Amino acid sequence: MEIRVLPLPADRMKTKVRDELQLGFGKYFTDRMLLVEWKTGREWCDARIEPYAPFVLDPACLVFHYGQEIFEGLKAYKWADGRIALFRPEMNARRFNQSGARLCMPALPEELFLTGIEQLVALEKAWIPSAPGTSLYIRPTLIAVEPVLGVKPSEHYYFYVILSPVGAYYAAGFNPVAILVEDYYVRAVPGGTGEAKTGGNYASSLKAGLEAKKKGYDQVLWLDGRERRFIEEVGAMNMFFVYGTKIVTAPLNGSILSGVTRDSVLKLAPTLGYQVEERPIDVNELFADIKAGKVSEAFGSGTAAVITPVGKLCYKDECHQLTGGRVGEITQKLYDTLTGIQTGKLQDDFGWIRFIG
Ligand code: COI
Repeated sequence: MEIRVLPLPADRMKTKVRDELQLGFGKYFTDRMLLVEWKTGREWCDARIEPYAPFVLDPACLVFHYGQEIFEGLKAYKWADGRIALFRPEMNARRFNQSGARLCMPALPEELFLTGIEQLVALEKAWIPSAPGTSLYIRPTLIAVEPVLGVKPSEHYYFYVILSPVGAYYAAGFNPVAILVEDYYVRAVPGGTGEAKTGGNYASSLKAGLEAKKKGYDQVLWLDGRERRFIEEVGAMNMFFVYGTKIVTAPLNGSILSGVTRDSVLKLAPTLGYQVEERPIDVNELFADIKAGKVSEAFGSGTAAVITPVGKLCYKDECHQLTGGRVGEITQKLYDTLTGIQTGKLQDDFGWIRFIG
């Protein structure tokens, strides 16, 4: 499908943040966005890259009432030699359609997802930061825009992509975060939407997150929705626990997100001499193992969060400091290797990098 590029008037061009180390996460957006529509009978149509601007939408649109929405998150990196790299974007294209299928939304041809992003990022390449720890965050989104109040799948959708130059997701940067295991609220249940990347999962996590923040934690770690016993994920990250040289994470059970970074850690770790294990993790056993000194490190993984060390983990009345509150050796090694591949400092033996242009 041809993507029209609409002119960008000079007075619509924004000023870029000068100090890339002050970017934070998701606060600034580039000059242009990609928009493709889907209408019953016409399928995907009217693809265009246009100046970034607010949408004018009917207040009755389905997305506002029943939350028919999905999104993705991936990053573009500017390499020292000037090339622009995307990291495993095919995985995001596939997951986008898996999320869409759960929400009864039309499948987007993966080629359109990929070429649309590539064309947009190529046009906006001046926005890709290059300071250490920065990148261009890409946010593909699909929303239901049919104005009708009946609960049903929409007959009209907007697929759009916006770009945001970012630094670290957590304000503290690559530093250990404090996590509270949530023992009351749940994020997902078997058969629910936990595996889909849909806004509702994040909306329903806000209350627990705010309550934990008031107590001084950065995030909550969700337990399974049936027994509140097995470790699931932190909303913005999958979780890993290090036992000696073995790295353990929860299995993809249908209620946690199938993270691209999670998958990358599972593939990278064995090449660095670590064993990996995907198995149900009982929170009581985990805490007994931490108490017994068997768990040396814990970290989260995510596109925005990259690899985030966990320095403190609490459950009910029990709190543990991990790795003396510092970044663990294995966590650091995985972070260095993953970001090294993403930024072109280390060789990509996996074929994970897709260059633009
Ligand atoms: C991402 O890591 O890309 C996400 O979508 C998580 C979000 C909480 C920023």
